[in-house]
Amino acid sequence: MTFPHTLRIAETAAEAGEMAAAMLAEAIAARPSIVLGLATGGTMRGVYASLLARQTRGEVDLTQICAFNLDDYLGLGIEDEQSYATEMRRVLFAPAGIDPRRCHIPNGRAADPAKEGDRYEAAIRDAGGIDLQLLGLGVNGHIGFNEPGSLPQSRTRVVDLAPQTIVHNRKHFPPGADVPTRAISMGIATILEARRILVLATGAVKADAVSAMLERPPSTDCPASFLSRHGQVSVVLDRAAAARIGPVRAP
Ligand code: GLP
Repeated sequence: MTFPHTLRIAETAAEAGEMAAAMLAEAIAARPSIVLGLATGGTMRGVYASLLARQTRGEVDLTQICAFNLDDYLGLGIEDEQSYATEMRRVLFAPAGIDPRRCHIPNGRAADPAKEGDRYEAAIRDAGGIDLQLLGLGVNGHIGFNEPGSLPQSRTRVVDLAPQTIVHNRKHFPPGADVPTRAISMGIATILEARRILVLATGAVKADAVSAMLERPPSTDCPASFLSRHGQVSVVLDRAAAARIGPVRAP
């Protein structure tokens, strides 16, 4: 088994986003009712903008997809400006015209957060499982909000955010606002059950995490390194994110 199954390196972050969008569009065209696992973060904005542009040009129909997002902040929900639920509605679901009943995301405002993980896992199972999971990479190698220390058998649950993650994500909150310190995230085992995985990472800030993911043995120090246990992973990088991987992988 090779890991990753495919590795593509674009010159720029914008080109990498286009590459990832093209791969998603191809998968959607092959199966319009595909179950997609989706991610938030600055890296994904270009991907979603490209998918919307492709839909406007008549190249892809996003309206029949079923989406399961990786995570949301604990305490924030669709009513909150900074929740991932609101972000996804703004950058993809609403402009694409996807019925909200097909758009799933862990409910950060669930009455009983401890039970939300089980509810979410059951919803994924009821949908037939995730066909293709899109993943970004945290600066510390997290996937979803599975921070270093997360176990490969972890499932959707409440997690504590790493101090580095809180600092990195502060830019998405108004100055002076409290950044949540906990989240509900799909687990690593949940992610590994997806039939295919597409990782997108761009920028020099991700270069160390990319190197740990691709070149170090699987370890809880870098949760993304557990992706090597999956047989169908595609990785798309820009030059800056690929700067610390070896010449054999990144010619
Ligand atoms: C958050 C999300 C991750 C995402 C990461 C990267 O932490 N939970 O799923 O990969 O952001 O964010 P960015 O793309 O803004 O660097």
